[in-house]
Amino acid sequence: MITVFGATGTTGAPLVDALLAKGAQVRAVTSDPAKATDLTTRGCEAVTANFNDAASLGQACAGAERIYLVTPAHLNMRRWKADAIKAAKTAGVRHVVLATGLGASPKAGLTFGKWHSETQELLKESGLDWTFVQPTYFMQNLLWQADSIVKNGVYYDDLGGPVSWIDARDIADVAAEALTGADHAGKAYGLTGPEALTGEDIAALLSEVTGRSITSAPLAPEDAKAAMVANGMQDEVAAAMVELASIAPKGYLGGIETTVSDVLGRPARRFRDFVAENRDAFVK
Ligand SMILES: NC(=O)c1ccc[n+]([C@@H]2O[C@H](COP(=O)([O-])OP(=O)(O)OC[C@H]3O[C@@H](n4cnc5c(N)ncnc54)[C@H](OP(=O)(O)O)[C@@H]3O)[C@@H](O)[C@H]2O)c1
Repeated sequence: MITVFGATGTTGAPLVDALLAKGAQVRAVTSDPAKATDLTTRGCEAVTANFNDAASLGQACAGAERIYLVTPAHLNMRRWKADAIKAAKTAGVRHVVLATGLGASPKAGLTFGKWHSETQELLKESGLDWTFVQPTYFMQNLLWQADSIVKNGVYYDDLGGPVSWIDARDIADVAAEALTGADHAGKAYGLTGPEALTGEDIAALLSEVTGRSITSAPLAPEDAKAAMVANGMQDEVAAAMVELASIAPKGYLGGIETTVSDVLGRPARRFRDFVAENRDAFVK
């Protein structure tokens, strides 16, 4: 049995699909009982558990050999993950595949890298087998702007430099392999897409795919932060996002990792294909 936390989320949902396609027995965790039926219909066991309720985390882990552990970006995420790791250890789980972020290490200088590193080190100390999936920016983040792109014909670029965006389905496919295959314990998988794209590149892709003229406009850090907070993100988390974005103009978010093709034996998905598959969201 494999327990998938965050099973309705950006990486968890495609992970459930990938694991079911491999014939794995999957227990999908949601904090929202209303989402359980859909998960069951897709062919997995559904469990309702909340990161704020340690007992429910134990139930989610009971009888599982491996787990995928992800939480939303949240000020409590280190405590939530610590509680889930503790519950996994108590329940006899053998292997935790932990979602963190590219650059997470004890040497990290940025807030997100430090937060994720703290959990990585905790998992190492637990004695459980571990694999870290450490992605860069998700292509799916572009959907946050879909309505505004439709309305204004503008892609607002809060990064200002090249970024090697990854499709969350590739993160899920690597996690699925780590959860079902051999020789993934003790590995930290830095994950990027196959190319680094600027805001202008993304606007050009959107124009090509939609047949409309879509331009790129810079979004100032304070405006980016205000938009994230307006969408419900905590102030400190939005500040950490802006801090991360600030290194893009120096080219530090444009490095390419070959992990997706190394682990999966096929190339990482391209941003052009992601935009084309989601064309409807950008033309409505
Ligand atoms: N977005 C990016 O570009 C990016 C880049 C690098 C790293 N990351 C990292 O990736 C992680 C986010 O991954 P993701 O996008 O896959 O996650 P997500 O979609 O933001 O969240 C996963 C799921 O967590 C569940 N959840 C929320 N509150 C909960 C609670 N109190 N108890 C139990 N479950 C709860 C929600 O499902 P239910 O409503 O069904 O409970 C949600 O679907 C963060 O750590 C972030 O730092 C993100």
